[in-house]
Amino acid sequence: MTTRPENFEPSHRGAHPSIAEELAGRARELEGGGRDIVYLQVGQPSTGAPEGVLEAVSQASETSTLGYSGAAGIPELQARIAQQYQDLYGVEVGPERILITFGASGAILLAIVGCFDVGQRVALPQPFYYGYRHAIETLGVECVLFDTQPENNLQPTVEDIEAIEGPIHGLIVASPGNPTGSMLSPDELKTLSEYCEKKGIRFISDEIYHGIVYDSEIPQATGCAFSPETIVVNSFSKYYSMAGWRLGWMVVPDYLIKPISGLAHNLYLCPPSPAQVGALYAMDCRDELDQHVVRYAKNRSIMLDRMPDLGFDRFVAPHGAFYLYCHVQHLHEDSVQFCIDMLEGAGVLAAPGSDFCPTNGQHYIRFSYAGATDQVEEAVDRIARWRGGA
Ligand SMILES: Cc1ncc(COP(=O)(O)O)c(C=O)c1O
Repeated sequence: MTTRPENFEPSHRGAHPSIAEELAGRARELEGGGRDIVYLQVGQPSTGAPEGVLEAVSQASETSTLGYSGAAGIPELQARIAQQYQDLYGVEVGPERILITFGASGAILLAIVGCFDVGQRVALPQPFYYGYRHAIETLGVECVLFDTQPENNLQPTVEDIEAIEGPIHGLIVASPGNPTGSMLSPDELKTLSEYCEKKGIRFISDEIYHGIVYDSEIPQATGCAFSPETIVVNSFSKYYSMAGWRLGWMVVPDYLIKPISGLAHNLYLCPPSPAQVGALYAMDCRDELDQHVVRYAKNRSIMLDRMPDLGFDRFVAPHGAFYLYCHVQHLHEDSVQFCIDMLEGAGVLAAPGSDFCPTNGQHYIRFSYAGATDQVEEAVDRIARWRGGA
């Protein structure tokens, strides 16, 4: 390792260490020493891309260089996604309003750079997906954290937003959410979208977990159905099981197409072409992808059936995604230490809530059940033995 010369400081923008990453490092050390660890801290499908995707990419490479695409992506994929808004939600979205991005992460970055100036204020309901905060602060925008209430399933309401002091220029909401898996009803999403439009607040609706839902009482609705100003963010990482392909999309109002695709071009030229070809194919594989959702539903039932008896009986209704966000203050005052104890005692790693909520995340932990069912069962058995002996 080289020593940093004086005057060569790294920047400190948005540099929040991830506690879950630190714990994953500790878990890998234990694994290196011969321990078997079940990882329930990461929200990544244990399956790969749908069958046939690699073949589709390989075939495309015979007739195309798969070189740079336009900054907004290949027109066929834009058109296919636009079609899907019609098929799934009955909403008409012009294909030119769909910008293909580097995962939802890329879409979030572009939305922030494209909509907010340095010093403006974006509101984040706690608990939140920690990537939002990193992106907002790294880009010199102020992140205004506010609390949500358990009786609202830890999703924001207009009253929560009205209680924020000072001006707000943006709001980011995910439904189903990470870390909770809870959802806003179509009416709640509509109320938030319309309120934001009226108040001149840019509403960013993260819909990355659409397709992974369990409760038919809460239909999935898209933010772009309710206000032309809403920016929708989505991705091929979750339902489509293509996390490492790094592809997502955003839906933007007409007048943002040019500035945001211009930014995409200036920052990284274009989204990856092979991934776009693969994603186009994957969009026709819903039967196969729905089988993953059947597995998540089974994993979820195992968790909901067994975890309450093990002391994990305080959680937000997990309508979608693949998470259980449990309040654990009655088990330990400090959820980071609780996760360390569970890792060392049971060989199971969960994510402490502090990454998702600086205010009271120390009282929560998040389990991800995105993995294989036998791993989820094994994790619950281990926790039962550990808690039994605790
Ligand atoms: C709510 C939410 N938004 C965005 C992302 C980033 O996803 P991507 O892999 O598409 O960049 C994640 C990843 O876990 C997430 O949970």
